[in-house]
Amino acid sequence: MIQPILLTGDRTTGPLHLGHYAGSLRSRLDLLDSHETYLLLADAQALTDNAHDPEKVRRNVIEVALDYLAVGIDPTKSTICLQSHLPALAELSMLYLNFVSVARLERNPTIKTEIAARGFGRDIPAGFLCYPAAQAADITAFKATVVPVGEDQAPLIEQTNEIARRINAVAGRDVLPEARAIIPRSGRLPGVDGRAKMSKSGGNAIPLSATPDQISAAVRAMFTDPAHLRVEDPGRVEGNVVFTYLDAFDPDTQTLEELKARYRHGGLGDGKIKKRLDEILQALVAPIRNRRAEFAQEPDFVLDVIRVGTERARVVTEATKKEVVDGLGLFAL
Ligand code: TRP
Repeated sequence: MIQPILLTGDRTTGPLHLGHYAGSLRSRLDLLDSHETYLLLADAQALTDNAHDPEKVRRNVIEVALDYLAVGIDPTKSTICLQSHLPALAELSMLYLNFVSVARLERNPTIKTEIAARGFGRDIPAGFLCYPAAQAADITAFKATVVPVGEDQAPLIEQTNEIARRINAVAGRDVLPEARAIIPRSGRLPGVDGRAKMSKSGGNAIPLSATPDQISAAVRAMFTDPAHLRVEDPGRVEGNVVFTYLDAFDPDTQTLEELKARYRHGGLGDGKIKKRLDEILQALVAPIRNRRAEFAQEPDFVLDVIRVGTERARVVTEATKKEVVDGLGLFAL
């Protein structure tokens, strides 16, 4: 049976957190059985803004792989592979860079935001500015049509499709398929401090390996509605970090809607909603944390998963590279 091809990836800059879970890990798990799934440990992309710290990028390859296995990604139903060990991705990236302008790269909203956040000023690493072309290579090399990502990644998928269309136009046939981003309905999970994005570097993340105490401390520190001083006061649900998290993780949506109504009306204390969130997050993270600890005891197994996956991915990506080279009509030897 032919299944649609799914690819997504994660920069190997740190262990994954609840933002990744709500953003794309959860959709990957849902789609695993109905899609041919490739997961890319994006160490080469991680280097584009971490060239000063390759040790971090190296170390976190295993951490991210452990997170994949811990959340329940079954390595017999998916291919987990290492970006830097797939030369076809680098070769395709070089070809693709000719199908995108510097101005277009600079206009990419994701890149723009990330450049501002990193404070590069005029010293933007060239690899960083160009990583959308490399990400286009990641996606198209596997002929993926389904790409589960957080909403901040949507412009990258759009740019991927632009590059694919240009290559197809030059080739005169559809060498590369277009891809569709799968973006979670709940939107991006804010940091526990209420800032727009949860990130390890921002210090506002709950890692998937968080201990019970870390989870409770994070929930306790969460902002609610600053004007909700007494339990009887009406409270705001919108922009209230605790409710945003409940929206993302509470499986009982009906009870949640009732709680929201009570909170808005007045008479529901912050302690109550925090207690509920704490219970939900503890129940979500506990099995992940336990499985992670078990896999961490088996480094050879984890390494083997990555080795086998990368071998398999090598075959697929080399074949696509050949098709692109042929499609462009480059000299054949
Ligand atoms: N840019 C993604 C991130 O920052 C990682 C990534 C690399 C990716 N290559 C990809 C995501 C291909 C989707 C498809 O997390």
